[in-house]
Amino acid sequence: MKVVSVNTPSAAYEVKIGAGLLDSLGEEVRARTKAGRAVVVSGENVFPLYGKRALESLRNAGIRAESVVFPSGEETKSLTRYGELLNSLTDFRMSRSDCLVALGGGVTGDLTGFAAATYQRGIAYVQVPTTLLAAVDSSVGGKTAVNLPAAKNQVGAFYQPAAVLCDTDTLSTLPPRELRAGYAEVIKYGILGDADLFDTLQQGGFTPENIIETCVRMKADIVAEDEHDFGRRRLLNLGHTFGHAVEARSGYQLLHGEAVAVGTAMIARAAVRMGMLDAHSRDAIVETLESFGLPVRTDYGADELYELLLLDKKISSGKLSLIVPLGIGWCEAIPVDRGKLRQWLEAAYD
Ligand code: NAD
Ligand code: GLY
Repeated sequence: MKVVSVNTPSAAYEVKIGAGLLDSLGEEVRARTKAGRAVVVSGENVFPLYGKRALESLRNAGIRAESVVFPSGEETKSLTRYGELLNSLTDFRMSRSDCLVALGGGVTGDLTGFAAATYQRGIAYVQVPTTLLAAVDSSVGGKTAVNLPAAKNQVGAFYQPAAVLCDTDTLSTLPPRELRAGYAEVIKYGILGDADLFDTLQQGGFTPENIIETCVRMKADIVAEDEHDFGRRRLLNLGHTFGHAVEARSGYQLLHGEAVAVGTAMIARAAVRMGMLDAHSRDAIVETLESFGLPVRTDYGADELYELLLLDKKISSGKLSLIVPLGIGWCEAIPVDRGKLRQWLEAAYD
């Protein structure tokens, strides 16, 4: 088992990564919270696979455990489901000392975390990520949210979990397309800050446990320095500005990780056109994404994506921070105004 400590100004917790950890969920909740009750929040694909073990582990630790199961998919990150979850917590008589468990991917984690942040002004929650994307990114760092019809993640909170328990065995049931989508975020870490990780991904021969640990260590380091996303944390949005627009335009038919892959390839192309990245690095980025079976282009035109870009949460004082790769393992946030944003977008189609 690997253990990574996360220390942010608001909280300190551990991320445990290893095979079979789901059975220690009850002990973990007991050790990290004061919960007498816990509600396992999950999705309809994941709960039948892992729900019983999660509930048993909690009950064996003397915790009264219930479950709430939602349809799978991005649509579940909605105000409607959020309201339903809060009402269920009231029905279960959950008190401020109790705990939620997010058992699933990023959709479950983001929804559960936001409910935990706001129910009775905040109760504990534990992340149990079951997708590669959730393991390397969404379960760590405390970004929680639901979507509005107009755009993703528009309502949320920074709220750190009490613990993250990543049972790598759960990845064995993940559909191959979802696993590939998770690798888009892993490749992102390599490009933004770890050239060795990028090389490893190009060469193969790694274990999920090692890859997850490497990414979580980098994320822990970043959120310790910039919990609220005003500085270095923004680098984690590499590929997300164009990616979110493509994802929204597809009506969420494209998976989040797939959209990030397209967005990463687009920003790499634009960076070359703007004279900020060398063509060799761009080709390495695009080829590595392709080698993991990820898409690197979109059929949506610049006109279709531009309006969606203007909804981006990273716009402040009329400028949007574009995360631009300057080399492998090196990115910077570049503020651009509307006019420049349009140029960057058009350059992303090279
Ligand atoms: P997801 O949660 O939709 O899960 C993907 C699919 O795989 C779902 O159908 C799910 O039911 C299924 N699944 C999950 N685990 C499984 C398993 N072990 N076996 C079989 N099926 C399984 O998608 P995701 O890619 O994990 O997360 C995407 C979401 O995460 C997006 O909403 C995105 O905005 C969010 N996100 C949040 C952050 C953050 O920092 N909070 C970071 C990145 C992404
Ligand atoms: N996934 C981006 C962040 O956590 O900041």
